[in-house]
Amino acid sequence: MNKSFSICIAGGGSTYTPGIVLMLLDRLEQFPLRQIKFYDDDKERQEVIALACDLLIKEKAPHIKFSYTTDPKEAFSDIDFVMAHIRVGKFKMRSLDERIPLKYGVVGQETCGPGGIAYGMRSIGPMIELIDYMEEYSPNAWMLNYSNPAAIVAEATRRLKPNSKIINICDMPVSIESRMAEILGLESRKELDVRYYGLNHFGWFTDIKTQAGEDLMPRLKEYVKEHGYLLQDDQKAKEEHSWGETYLAAKDTYLLDPETLPNTYLQYYLYPDAIVKHSDINYTRTDEVINHREKQVFEEARKLIETKDVANSKFHIGHHADFIVDLARAIGFNTKERMLLIVENQGAIENFDSDAMVEIPCLVGNEGFEKLSIGSIPRFQKGMMEQQIAVEKLVVEAWIDQSYHKLWQALTMSKTVPSATVAKQILDDLIAANQEYWPQLK
Ligand code: NAD
Ligand code: G6P
Ligand code: MN
Repeated sequence: MNKSFSICIAGGGSTYTPGIVLMLLDRLEQFPLRQIKFYDDDKERQEVIALACDLLIKEKAPHIKFSYTTDPKEAFSDIDFVMAHIRVGKFKMRSLDERIPLKYGVVGQETCGPGGIAYGMRSIGPMIELIDYMEEYSPNAWMLNYSNPAAIVAEATRRLKPNSKIINICDMPVSIESRMAEILGLESRKELDVRYYGLNHFGWFTDIKTQAGEDLMPRLKEYVKEHGYLLQDDQKAKEEHSWGETYLAAKDTYLLDPETLPNTYLQYYLYPDAIVKHSDINYTRTDEVINHREKQVFEEARKLIETKDVANSKFHIGHHADFIVDLARAIGFNTKERMLLIVENQGAIENFDSDAMVEIPCLVGNEGFEKLSIGSIPRFQKGMMEQQIAVEKLVVEAWIDQSYHKLWQALTMSKTVPSATVAKQILDDLIAANQEYWPQLK
């Protein structure tokens, strides 16, 4: 097959952009490219990443046409795939999403609880705008979206853009699978045959086998019971302390249902008290990211621009980039690989809302995805998911109707929030902080 693709990375200034570019350059034989464009609404931030990536591309694949812009028409014309990872409100607003709930003793997190709700209210408009640009300038393109909060973005696109070619994804399950592979002494997560279901950042692994059919769950459970998903190497990474805590905490989450292995994000719903106790309102995850991932990526980019020493550049390239490139390739070359995607349920989980956006295995090909059937799920998971899906749907309804009440209901419904009183206090603070970004609520 003689295909060659054109990609737009939306959120060109993201800390994840260099990793994705390097992965694309690494995979050119399996997934040939003719063009890469970056799009961002922050010209200066994007430029640093773009000038560094330009050097990488020129060195490794000079035939690829590269450009970066803040102009939507330029960015979205002549594109086959948009890889989106925008952070609406950037780290400044993420920090408030984390700190405002903590002020009231409630979990402060990027995608879970009130912080995720606030971020959702900011992201819906700009994400719909990105889809509009893609549909106007490259109507046949696919958008592969990592932008968070993916659950709320997915529900918003289901409601507002039901026919658009967007696939929402998350790298948490593949990160956990990589850890599982390491725990088991396997080379790659791709050796695992995985069954999983849930909502985004809210799911469970039900089966992990080798491709030959050997059941790996007993060995994994033994490990997780003791260490969660924490690996030896994690102990060293002090700057990523909170991720260490998160991987370890999976052992407590696991106790709730020893039949399955949990997504790490369930900790925020099952042990919110412990999370709040371990949080420092003056140094949240945003501070960690700014002082570590963001710092590293931008220092590395600036160094590369100055030295032009491509051979010694040290950008991180991992499963996050691997997953999105695999997904594009599966669509481009109709590979029918099995991947976890966030899609409309429509009966895949038999005893769950048909119009819920769920995260389940799908076969990916040139027409998009075909969902695999999950069957019925147990009472515990179903109950938790019903509460959480109600939150996500209420947020999207609140955004569409500009409804204060629906958003108050959403916050109150979240398992992370103890009462309607606390929900209202947090909501009023979030409204004040998000004036620039949220629709005016009535
Ligand atoms: P970042 O702040 O470094 O990058 C985001 C970029 O988006 C910034 O350069 C910013 O200027 C740009 N941006 C913001 N609003 C925009 C808009 N309306 N139009 C165009 N560009 C815009 O953030 P990061 O830490 O690299 O993360 C990027 C995004 O990817 C976040 O939403 C994060 O939550 C998400 N993410 C998701 C997953 C997942 O599992 N789904 C995994 C990793 C990261
Ligand atoms: C995981 C999640 C993402 C999240 C990312 C980064 O991979 O799946 O949704 O954005 O972690 O989180 P961090 O706190 O490191 O920015
Ligand atoms: Mn995620």
